[in-house]
Formats: sequence, structure tokens, C-alpha cells
Amino acid sequence: MIKLEIDKKEIMAKKGETVLEVAQRHGIYIPTLCYQKDLVPYGGCRLCIVEVKGWSIPVASCTLPVEDGMVVKTDTPRLKKLRRFSLQLILSEHPHACLICDKEEECAKYQECIEKSAVTFGCKFCARNGDCELQELVEKLGIKEIPFEFSYRNLEIEKFDPFFERDYNLCILCGRCVRMCQEVRGAGILDFQHRGPETLVGTAYNLSHLEIGCQFCGACVDVCPTGALRDRYSKWLGLPERYVKTTCALCNIGCSIKINVRANTVVSSTPDNNQICVRGRFGIAPLVHHPKRIISPMLRKGERLVEVEWEEAFDFVCTKLNEYRAKTGILFSPQLTIEAINSVYGLADHLQCEKLATTSALETNLKPLDLKGFRGDLVFVIVNTDMISDFSPLLLKLRSQQKIKPAFIVIDAVDSKLTQIVDLWLRPELGKEVDVLKLLFAQKKMKNTTAVSTQDIKLGKDLLKKKNIYLLYNPYNIKNITVPKYVKKIPLTAKINALKIIDMGVDSSTMDLLQDKNIDCLYLLGTAPKLNRKYKTIIVQDCFPPQVRFDLFLPTATFAEVNGSVVNIEGKIKRIRKAIEPLGKSKSDDWIIAQISKRLNHNTKNRKPKKRKTIISAIAKNRKVGEKYPIHLIVRENSYSFRGHRLSDLMKGFERLRGDGYVRVNKRTAKKLRVKDGAEIKIIGRTLNLVMPARITEDVPENSVLVYYHPSMGAVNSQPVRVECVH
Ligand code: SF4
Ligand code: SF4
Ligand code: SF4
Ligand code: FES
Repeated sequence: MIKLEIDKKEIMAKKGETVLEVAQRHGIYIPTLCYQKDLVPYGGCRLCIVEVKGWSIPVASCTLPVEDGMVVKTDTPRLKKLRRFSLQLILSEHPHACLICDKEEECAKYQECIEKSAVTFGCKFCARNGDCELQELVEKLGIKEIPFEFSYRNLEIEKFDPFFERDYNLCILCGRCVRMCQEVRGAGILDFQHRGPETLVGTAYNLSHLEIGCQFCGACVDVCPTGALRDRYSKWLGLPERYVKTTCALCNIGCSIKINVRANTVVSSTPDNNQICVRGRFGIAPLVHHPKRIISPMLRKGERLVEVEWEEAFDFVCTKLNEYRAKTGILFSPQLTIEAINSVYGLADHLQCEKLATTSALETNLKPLDLKGFRGDLVFVIVNTDMISDFSPLLLKLRSQQKIKPAFIVIDAVDSKLTQIVDLWLRPELGKEVDVLKLLFAQKKMKNTTAVSTQDIKLGKDLLKKKNIYLLYNPYNIKNITVPKYVKKIPLTAKINALKIIDMGVDSSTMDLLQDKNIDCLYLLGTAPKLNRKYKTIIVQDCFPPQVRFDLFLPTATFAEVNGSVVNIEGKIKRIRKAIEPLGKSKSDDWIIAQISKRLNHNTKNRKPKKRKTIISAIAKNRKVGEKYPIHLIVRENSYSFRGHRLSDLMKGFERLRGDGYVRVNKRTAKKLRVKDGAEIKIIGRTLNLVMPARITEDVPENSVLVYYHPSMGAVNSQPVRVECVH
């Protein structure tokens, strides 16, 4: 331990700590601007300067390591003067009229005053007004005037990317966003450009964030101390009044998040001392308040859908369930809470219904991920899984597992953001991923028919030498993976609660249930898959309108409006906390089912639902392309959905980022087939007939097309197809 003195207080510190860290830990205030916890200190703003006994000039405390016997002063007239000077210099390039205006207080309270400042310059019109570190520092340091000429950069606001905007006129070049993107996210999208007074933050070649492969994680937005980077959805909703710590239920990672609330409105969702992804950062608030949400029960009366009260809705549902009982088929989304899933099982037991399944296929070979189990010198082999898009917080944890940086190898015929940042990308012919694995682990020489060069296989073998090898794959995207026993397999799926549902079992696969002719009443909790037959009654319990003709709609609240829990990829139970009251007349899934159960004289309390059969995942037949079906259709799990609804169908930003409502067609193949970008195409297989708009790309290999699975496609596996234009 090290002993030092700060502001006449004797303080113990650890070797390697900085003076700023120690001062903060002991509640001693030192102003900062470029410093950000968890980022390498940069020493750029000079606001955190301190005086050290024996040193002639003040030094930045954020980069100053503690030393034994050090005597530090943090608050002297000299330091105050110098800090004011540094901040005044910073403000000479940042619109500051409001910051030093003598009417500031009254303006904030009473007036829409733009007397001294143009609209574009005024704090009043900045999305961060009231939550800005500059405003706070100006007040704390008592700045009343700026003695330098104001230089406005006059840059155009960058609004062309989804989710967040950039107004670099407000940037104070603290570099927090650049360091966050590089050091923590490992994305390297942002950097300083130019030199001297021309210095700016931006992307290489001024490409848009979409073009350059930004993850839109929002980590840069969250560390920006000014209004330079701002969340587009929340910017005019006002500052949050409170936040609720909860869990994101949009994928199986179940990240801890804060839902920021004003009145009964979700303003935004932000990470809770961790890293999250674009879905959790920018998807939740617009999802909760989406204009398409149905928030009242709706009953079909003749040809019309009529808004009804809950009592009438329950009368209808109970009459129908009593009538059909075991002839009811129940399909539920894994994105319900555990409490709601338990209620669904209880209701199915009470009805003696043997037709219970999830709205999306589940795989049986999943087990809890043990993040603490990684040991030694690690190498992760990732097969057919875009971990940046689907599991980015998990990837960040894997990357920071050990002191020695783990190595990453990707085996995938499809290009993704992940392939750009790993140590080795092996791009085999489609369907040859398992053969690449065999080559990598082969003791003897083997024939190589994978399209991966022998040299790359050798590079892979070298990376695997004397390492602890973990194989990560999504069982939805690749079947029948075989590797030697010393390789630890980690199957990953995007569906939250997957482990819980596998443990409880279901009666059949989604498609088998939908083909069951004995079902008269379909009860859907989540989006409706493609229906190939008519039912006497269809009851939908969901947040958004289904694509099927239904008889009754029961409006449910989203996970931001309910209390409950979910089970994540590690098998951990995570709390879901109510951030706002359910919108309109919507209610939680478990409340709705409890009300139905009560009316059916079924007591849901303290009853353990019976275990059902184990789920049998469909094994895709690895058929070869031929004359009739010359194109490979690749089907991947879609992790960008809520209760089966594609986020891209609900939010423009996700449509631009993900494009999962499109079929991706290889550029050369599209030319051969005369398919134009955006044009509708037919994908015809042995038992398949899909019509979707095309998106032309080089990400998928030649002679192939890729779709992200959606329940409305019905039973779709990777298979040979032919592609035709719709004219
Ligand atoms: S959103 Fe994430 S990936 Fe994109 S620039 Fe910001 S920190 Fe980097
Ligand atoms: S954009 Fe924000 S975080 Fe990035 S350098 Fe400018 S002020 Fe700092
Ligand atoms: S990784 Fe999953 S749980 Fe985490 S924020 Fe994204 S969608 Fe939500
Ligand atoms: S916070 Fe230390 S120099 Fe900016």
C-alpha cells in the first residue's frame, strides 16, 4: 500500500492507482472532462490538474500515478484560475452564449428566450440541456465570460445514420467516444481526423456509420459529455425523471439495463455498468410506445373488430376454451416472463391440452454457459454465428477473459462484422464447415475439398496448438457438429428462456402443431406463424397486430411494463422490473392467464406444471444443389425480434441496419439471374415457396441466398432452391 496526503487528509492507495481515482474514492472533488472510468486516461482537457509538493507546475491527476509520501492539493486559487482558463478555451469552440448568459436561470424557468443566442446555438434547444457536463462545469468553476473570440465550426449535423445523430459543432474533442469505441467495443469506428484547430472526430474517409460497420451499440453516445452525440428517439422526450434497473429480454444474454422514465413514458434504455447491444440500447423505448401496439381487447363481431372490456373478452375466451379444451393448441413465444410461461403450462394442464409448443424452433442440445469456466490460453472457434450482431456483450466478455488475449477463428461462408476483427477467417464452401473442423483437428493428412486454402488450414492449426479450445456455434444455423472430446462445445441461441423451456419440455415442434388436424382452437401468445389451415377459433395474446385473421385479441404489456423474471444463456434467473404502468388496457401475460384460469376454476397458485416431452429439433437434410434447384438457401436464426415480430418491421433503424425482411442475394448471382436490388423474388424449394424483396450483397457466397428465419415463413431450413423474379 502507498500512503499519500490529499488536501491535508492522509490516504492509503494501491500501487498503480492515479491521484484522481484515489481522490474520487475518498469523496474529494476534482473537475474532469476527458476522463471516463474504464477508459485509458488521455490527459487532454487539463481540468483535473492538481498541485504536488515539490513540483513547479500543476499536473493532470487522471494520468498521475500515486507515489509514497506524495502531498497533493486539489483546490487552490492557482488551480481554479488555470481550470477556468482551460474551460474558457474549450468553450471558445463550443456555442456558449446560454452558458454565460445572466438571464440563464429565468430563461430555464419561464422564457423561451433566444434573445442572446441563435436557435441553433442555444442550450434550450440542445437535447442534453440539463444533463450536460459542460453546463455543470461552467457553474462549478464559476465562469461568467469567455475572453476569446468564438469560433463556430459550422458543420452539418450528421443525420443520415439510424439511431443517433452527430452534431460535431458541440464536440469538445474529449475523445471519450473514440476511446470507448476502440478500447471497450473493439470496433474502431471513430478516430480523430486532421490536426490542430482543424481536429475533428469522425470515421475513416467520412463514411457513414452504416457503411463503415458501426455496431450502433450507443456506447459512444453514453459517454459523450455534451449534446454532440444524441439518441434520435429520445432527444425531444425530455430528461428522464427516474430509472428502473431491469433486464433486457430481447435476447438470451439478458443484459442488465436501466429503463429511463419520464411520467409514464420510457425515454430510453441504457446499460447498467456493462455493455449492451443496439437492440437493448435503441430498441426498447420505441418498441414499448410503438404506434402499432394494440392496447385494448378486440373482439370480432361479424366482420368487424370491436374494442371490448376485459370482462367480455374473458367471457369469450373461457367459453371457447371450455368448448374446445384438449382440442386447443397453444403456441407461445419464449420471450414471455417465466411466471407467464408457468401460467401457460398450468392452463394447458388444466385443459388437458397435449398440444403446447413455442412459436419458434428450439434446440435440445443447449446447456448453461459457464463464463467463469474458461481457463488458460484460450482459442475460440466460432462457426456460422455472427457474434457481433447477435451476442456482442458476450463476445466482449470472451475477449477480456484472460490476461493473454484469446485467439478467435471464424468458420463461416457468410461474411459479417465479426470476420473483419478475428485472427483468422476460414471461408469454406457452403455446407463444408464441419469438414473444415475435421481438417483443423486431423492428426493425419486429409483431402481438402472445402475451398479453404491448405495454407489457411495450417494457420488455423498453429493457432489451436497447445490452447484450450472452445467451439461456439448456433445449433439453429449448423447441425451435427463433431469435434474431438478435448474441444468444449458451446451452443448458443438467441432465445431468452430457452433453457427453461427445454427443461419443461413441449409437446411438439411449431410446424407439427400447426399441421395437427385435431386442433379446433389456436391460442397464440406471440406472433402468428404461417397458417396452412382454418381454425374454428383463433385467440391472439400479444402486443402487436398479427397477420392472421383472429377472433379475439388480448393486449399484453411489454417487459418494460411488468414484474417477473427470465432465464438467460448462463442459466441465471434475472429480474424483470416494471418501469412504467402497462399502456392503455394492456396487462401482463401472467395476469391475463390467471384471470382466465380463475374463471375456468383452475387455481394456478403453488401448482407445478407437469413436464412435457423433450423438444426434438428438426435436422436439416444436407441436400446438394442440382439442375432443378441450383441455389443454396441459407437460413439463419433471427435474433432481432420480439415475440416473433421482426424489429425491422417495427423500426426503420433496424430495417436499415439488419434488413432481415429481405433475402440477401450474392451480387454475381443476382446479375446472372437478373435480380435487381429491392425487387421481389420467388424462392422455390422442394416444399417451399417464399416471396421476398431482394437485397444484393457480397456477404453471401456465390450461388446462394440468405434469409433470417421468421415464423411467417413456415417450416424453412437451409436447402437447395431456385430463384425466380416476380414480374
Ligand atoms: S455506436 Fe458503438 S460501434 Fe458505433 S461508433 Fe459508437 S461505440 Fe463505436
Ligand atoms: S463527440 Fe462527444 S465524446 Fe466524442 S470527442 Fe466530441 S464531445 Fe467528446
Ligand atoms: S445483447 Fe441481448 S439482452 Fe443484451 S442488450 Fe442486446 S438484445 Fe438485450
Ligand atoms: S480529466 Fe484529466 S486531463 Fe481531462
